Amino acid sequence: MCGIFGCVLKQGKAAPLIHAALKRLEYRGYDSVGEITIYDGKLHMKKDQGKIDEVHKIHDLDDLPGSIGFGHTRWATHGAPLQINAHPHIDCKGEIAVIHNGIIENFAELKKELEKNGHNFKSKTDTEIIPHLIEEIWDKNPSLNLIEAVHQAVKRLDGSYAIAVFSTKEPDKIICARNESPLIIGVGEDGIYFASDIPAFLPLTNKAVIIENGELVIISEKGYEIRKIADFKLVTREPKIIDWNPEMAKKEGYPHFMLKEIYEQPERLRDSLRLQEHYLDLLATFLDRGTEIFLVAAGTSYHACLAASYIFSKLAFLTSYPIIASEFISQQGKSIGINSTILVVSQSGETSDTLAAVEYARQKAATILALTNVINSTLTRISRVYIDQLSGPEIGVAATKTFTSQVSILTQLAIRLAKKRGKVSQDEMDLLAEKIEDIPNAVEKIINTKAEKVKQIAKKYKDSKTFFFLGRGISTATAYEGRLKLMEIAYIPSIAFPAGESKHGPISLVEPGFPVVFVCPMDGTHKTIIGNIMEMKARGASIITIIEEGDEEIKQLADDYIEVPKGFPEVLSPIPFIIPLQLLAYYIAVERNLDPDKPRNLAKSVTVK
Ligand code: AGP
Repeated sequence: MCGIFGCVLKQGKAAPLIHAALKRLEYRGYDSVGEITIYDGKLHMKKDQGKIDEVHKIHDLDDLPGSIGFGHTRWATHGAPLQINAHPHIDCKGEIAVIHNGIIENFAELKKELEKNGHNFKSKTDTEIIPHLIEEIWDKNPSLNLIEAVHQAVKRLDGSYAIAVFSTKEPDKIICARNESPLIIGVGEDGIYFASDIPAFLPLTNKAVIIENGELVIISEKGYEIRKIADFKLVTREPKIIDWNPEMAKKEGYPHFMLKEIYEQPERLRDSLRLQEHYLDLLATFLDRGTEIFLVAAGTSYHACLAASYIFSKLAFLTSYPIIASEFISQQGKSIGINSTILVVSQSGETSDTLAAVEYARQKAATILALTNVINSTLTRISRVYIDQLSGPEIGVAATKTFTSQVSILTQLAIRLAKKRGKVSQDEMDLLAEKIEDIPNAVEKIINTKAEKVKQIAKKYKDSKTFFFLGRGISTATAYEGRLKLMEIAYIPSIAFPAGESKHGPISLVEPGFPVVFVCPMDGTHKTIIGNIMEMKARGASIITIIEEGDEEIKQLADDYIEVPKGFPEVLSPIPFIIPLQLLAYYIAVERNLDPDKPRNLAKSVTVK
């Protein structure tokens, strides 16, 4: 997830506006930044790795000539966050410049084709193929104009993109194109703007035009023109007036980053399904060879590992041991050695407990594999192989999209491992592949149709003194994660455990009105969890269930229920089933007049032991 912004001004310098706008987009990515303008028939570019303020201090991002330009703040996915990989990227002749937010899935084959035709690449990014592709098309068809060359180029791109292109050969315009990654036009008195989201240009204009998937836009000082990529037909779309205040603008109209990130999950889950074949295969090979596999993480990432241990076992018949990072050394220290494989999961890649466990295992010659959200984090530098969870920056202290993206990647890893081990049939593989592609839409449906009902349930239980969160099988992981969310942002002491454990002690806490949340997918645990519901009900507990659509049996037993789309394999259930629990925690916190983004005593990344 990156941030792009650009403008064509009637007069004045573009660079200072670009710099200020990138600062407003910094939450979308901040490991490298670049700006470029056209002036006097030449490209003028500054880019480097580092946060915007750091790069500005060294290069002065306001000091570029010209009234047309664009900029990019990066969250690395392909290519480490180095100066050479920072955007913009340019063609061989230094006439065409591009910035891009998204993932080009077929960049490897396009790069091979372009290299064969003599194009030289400097970076490791997927983006850099775009200026060279436009150059190639234009060299072969000099009669084309810029929009036509860009139009032909984008038709060859697979994957997600919001791009901006300009050329010294037509220095008065910028061409943008969108497929899945967000792109919005700002229509101002002094010029036309484009950005990844509205807050970037809101101080300049409140007139916004949303660009849809499969559309191209020509931006010039005269205005904007939208065309369909499919047939190049003109599209007319009037600007909408945006009435956000600056505080809301930072969260794109959401009251809190946490809610924004909950709503962002469908997009991030689509990203998690993109283009990591090579890394997934590599990780699967290491796991396949492993004689003992430990899954090491903290907090939410540990819950993703808990789910993964069920998934690896069910799909790939692989035994793996999820261990809380701070307990790893004392619990397993003696037995770790060259035959140990450690799969480490950490959104920040900087969690001190997790890094300490990794460092220890490395000293014992164990193989370290990692799943993280931050490329170039300490964890990526000390792992043998790592894979990106592609969630984009997570600002809310409570992890939300982190969990669902991690489970998505870990499930894809288990599928490849199962295939490598010949443990699943082709039909099962096809079903899993189809269902995992459906997950983002299912999450979108839950968020769009159930949020209101969750809000009502939150109002009903907001003053409860404690909650149980119970599940069986893989839903135990979902229950643990739902409990952590409620505890950390609503400050309600909550307890999660496998539902079968109730009668071994915890049930003594239950009295009339005691809220018990059950996570109940219609998988192999469905029958037994009904028994657990009954035992709680018999003691007067208030039964809140997360169930599949049409589960009449449990619906009858529940005091309150939230339905999620049915028909997903149990290994995927943590993703749809956690959404109502994220929303429940969020709305209870809001009902209790707490700030979900800044829970007391907590930090986003726990870099202290
Ligand atoms: C989860 O909501 C918390 N923010 C916290 O438990 C977090 O998951 C934990 O600190 C691990 O962080 P990491 O994934 O960056 O290692």
